[in-house]
Amino acid sequence: PPPKTVHYIAEMKRRGQAITVLTAYDYPTALAHRSADIDICLIGDSLANVGLGHGSTQRLSVPAMVHHIQTVVRGLSSPLLSGEGRPALPLVIADMPFGSFFASVEEGVKNALALIKEGGADGVKIEGGQEIVPLVERLTDFGIPVMAHIGLQPQRAAALSGLTLRGRTAEQAISIVRDARALDRAGCFAGVVECVPNKVAKEISERVGFATIGIGAGPATDGQVLVINDILGDLTGPAHVLAGLGEPTSDHSSNMPLPLPHAETPRPPKFVRNFAAQATGGATLGSIRIAAVRAYVAAVRNRDFPNEDVEGYKIKREELELFR
Ligand code: KIV
Ligand code: NA
Repeated sequence: PPPKTVHYIAEMKRRGQAITVLTAYDYPTALAHRSADIDICLIGDSLANVGLGHGSTQRLSVPAMVHHIQTVVRGLSSPLLSGEGRPALPLVIADMPFGSFFASVEEGVKNALALIKEGGADGVKIEGGQEIVPLVERLTDFGIPVMAHIGLQPQRAAALSGLTLRGRTAEQAISIVRDARALDRAGCFAGVVECVPNKVAKEISERVGFATIGIGAGPATDGQVLVINDILGDLTGPAHVLAGLGEPTSDHSSNMPLPLPHAETPRPPKFVRNFAAQATGGATLGSIRIAAVRAYVAAVRNRDFPNEDVEGYKIKREELELFR
């Protein structure tokens, strides 16, 4: 099948088909994306937190982003996935790292081109509102697909003094809708809407032409995005296990304090659903990984591993005798 395009995404919105978006930063995740027929593969700058261990996305460099895009693109087009009946290539979008577009439109263009020409992304995602309109116009005028990112913008965590719900007052909600409309006119093909009340996200989705992709924005957006590690519980899982709390539950109905996406908290934000735990009856990838490493260490220490017959090879007796 032909690769998924911005036109394909627009058609999905027109037909009311939900657009699936998920983050990837590495080769095995890219293989999983492709096998699961994801529509848009996002190399998000959440890479800084969940892949590289930084405290905020502000630390991510353009070369680091390029390096990870290259890895993901290799995974998506891996020969392991060749052959009949394979799902289409997803559209590949990468985040413009913090600061990579602040100095000037020229600087932004140069860095967007690095993500595309060196990395292999199809297009870029940029956090911001009216202030990024000139850059978005410049890029889209030359045919570069741009995804907006409005509502909560984690790159502004320092200025916002944390990551909290946006658009909870009418004034804020109006300003988000205004940003959305400006970015729509500037040519964005899609836009992430992060952490806003459901009704604000619904309003935006009805008032813009681009496909809205929600995260913590309720069910009325044109698509949904989550961070891969959040749906696997491979970071929250370890935090729980290491804190001696056992497995984290997949029940987030309780009223948690407002989301701290991807921070090192033992509990994931309210908008995350742990699909690994749900699909396996409670296990998370993080706890599976820890359990596996612990079991390996124990087996080696006990000399239970490797098993002489099952995991070893034999030499023929006559060869052994010659050898001796
Ligand atoms: O960086 C990221 O992963 C993102 C998504 C959560 C939308 O921007
Ligand atoms: Na991001």
